[in-house]
Amino acid sequence: MATRGGFSSKFGFIAAAAGSAVGLGNIWKFPFEVGDGGGAAFVVMYLGFCFVLCFPVMVSEIAIGRRTQRNPVGAFEALGYKNWKFIGMMGILSGVLILSFYNVVAGWAFGYFLEMVQGNFGIGGQFSDFVKNVSRVGLYGICFMLATAFIVSKGIAGGVEKAAKFLMPTLIVIILSLAFYAMTLPNAMAGVTFYFLPDFSKITSDVVYSALGQAFFSLSLGMGALITYGSYVGKNDNIIESTVLITLADVGIAFIAGLMMFPLVAYMNQGDMSNISGGAGLIFATLPGVFETLGQGTGVFIGALFFLLLSFAALTSTVSLLEVPVAFVVDEFKLPRKVAVWGLATFIFIIGVPSLLSNGYSPFWTEFVTYFGSDKPTDFMTFVSDLANDTMLPLGGCLITLFTAYIWKKENLSDEIAVGNPKFKGSLIEKLINLGISYICPLVLGSLFILTVLDRFFGIKFI
Ligand code: TRP
Repeated sequence: MATRGGFSSKFGFIAAAAGSAVGLGNIWKFPFEVGDGGGAAFVVMYLGFCFVLCFPVMVSEIAIGRRTQRNPVGAFEALGYKNWKFIGMMGILSGVLILSFYNVVAGWAFGYFLEMVQGNFGIGGQFSDFVKNVSRVGLYGICFMLATAFIVSKGIAGGVEKAAKFLMPTLIVIILSLAFYAMTLPNAMAGVTFYFLPDFSKITSDVVYSALGQAFFSLSLGMGALITYGSYVGKNDNIIESTVLITLADVGIAFIAGLMMFPLVAYMNQGDMSNISGGAGLIFATLPGVFETLGQGTGVFIGALFFLLLSFAALTSTVSLLEVPVAFVVDEFKLPRKVAVWGLATFIFIIGVPSLLSNGYSPFWTEFVTYFGSDKPTDFMTFVSDLANDTMLPLGGCLITLFTAYIWKKENLSDEIAVGNPKFKGSLIEKLINLGISYICPLVLGSLFILTVLDRFFGIKFI
């Protein structure tokens, strides 16, 4: 196993796992979901999901990975449960699907960085033309996938960990500076108020499902990304402590992203938060206009910094998404790492082409499906994201907890956690985790999975 490599330090693992968690999900998706979901009402629900439902899932994933030192498919086999490796297979499939469209959005972020550097603020108003210009956005997507593959090809300590140790602290400095700056702008407080005052009337069943999907997506759970990273963790690491730190980093950065975004929006709308436009456009269509009003010098600087932040956040996430299928292919088929990395990066980029075309360029992919009970067609990219993020991840989480509690057994989970954390056995946190994996997670995640599928794809609503 020595040849598999591993993280060189505890901080390295936390940085890499937090890097996986913190991504477009936090900075791009979180603020607009908050905007659509009633401000603080959404935030409270999201925090509840992260700490109650996601915590036991994350602990289980890391423990399974560290015990077996294998990829998500091999891990189930190594524990002696061949029949359960379908969970790992489904995870790898979700990862491939997520990376295929995630890379497209990451490419937009990188492209916007280049536009900001040149002071082209008009790009905000041309967002829909920008995403339709497939040769250009495709090129940015290729650049992004190349950077991702380059890092992953260098291995765990020399690639994934090294990149995260540089990118994560830089990201924290950038996002904090931007949030402080945003709060000094006129009308900033109107944005903060919107963010902190819950509007419970906006909570619909759809918002609940989105908050759950968002929690899973944002914490990189439910597909074995943390089984994979856990497989590179040393035996003296404390899994509980790592889980707390990773969750806090992820939630913290999402929270700060909101503190940066809503003051900016309030500044632009002169304090009027009544018709804040949610949706993907919140960042790409709206922010360049905000940066423009800051004047050429400051605007270019702040704008470029913002999209650099977004690109860095995305990069540590694409790295983790690519590492999962790479670990699978390297472990199971004994392929050299470099071959696995470049082969898979090419393959996933190609799977992402329909997503690239589905933002207005190709009518077929743009109006890909119309869900039952909906009168508007859904584009391919949104479809893949609905499928992978909002349904496959919670299902994966549900199956992982079921497996851990009833097949692998709680005692084995506790044994693994206790390595590196001698006080764990008999503690309150042990009882809570057992309660989580045995009852709360399987029940809640299982029911929400069924409700989400019925609601999203079939238009059947229960609440
Ligand atoms: N968590 C990342 C984000 O918030 C996305 C991501 C990276 C992810 N790796 C993952 C999501 C694995 C699910 C599973 O942007």
